[in-house]
Amino acid sequence: MTGGSGDQVDVTPRPAHPPNPTPQLAPPPLLILRTETLAPEQTTAVGSRVGGLLASGDLVILDGPLGAGKTAFIRGLAQALDVAGPVTSPTFVIARHHRPRRAGGCGLVHVDGFRVTDISEIDQLDLDTDLAEAVIAMEWGTGLAERLTGDRLSVRIRRSLDRAASWRSIEVHGHGGRWAGVHLP
Ligand SMILES: Nc1ncnc2c1ncn2[C@@H]1O[C@H](COP(=O)(O)OP(=O)(O)OP(=O)(O)O)[C@@H](O)[C@H]1O
Ligand SMILES: [Mg+2]
Repeated sequence: MTGGSGDQVDVTPRPAHPPNPTPQLAPPPLLILRTETLAPEQTTAVGSRVGGLLASGDLVILDGPLGAGKTAFIRGLAQALDVAGPVTSPTFVIARHHRPRRAGGCGLVHVDGFRVTDISEIDQLDLDTDLAEAVIAMEWGTGLAERLTGDRLSVRIRRSLDRAASWRSIEVHGHGGRWAGVHLP
């Protein structure tokens, strides 16, 4: 005879390991730079400072609304890396390759994910191969480019209705060990 509810035994079989182990949480991104600009040239200059940190294999993902200044920022990356060709919005192609001007230099691949609807379009670009000898900078790349490499920079550009039309805030975060301890004053 069993007693009250206090005597009931839970006979549900328990798996040897928890069925849903807690996923390994990635370390939080670290702030490398936060600044404001009031002209496109200033945004390009900020890009140039960030570009000074970059080497082949680095991935930069840019996020911000239409006309935020993502291309202006990448223009600065191109200056710092000293690559050939004007940096313009790659409207009719998804990716544009800029070769290094100096032998042994690092190239730049400028990718625009704005019209990308399927991640297979990114796979077809073979960006893994490009990373061996270039920096990849991708506009509208959030959700598309992260899997290329564990380490990356994310650049977030914002504008505000409360501010001058030319005001932008720029935040650069580093993700992964490559960027640990890196900070721009
Ligand atoms: N502080 C600023 N920084 C950058 N661009 C600015 C700034 N103030 C005004 N602008 C203007 O904003 C526009 C930015 O254009 P840009 O092509 O760089 O933006 P984008 O984010 O790449 O846009 P899209 O999403 O269409 O690719 C340019 O017309 C530029 O002159
Ligand atoms: Mg652009």
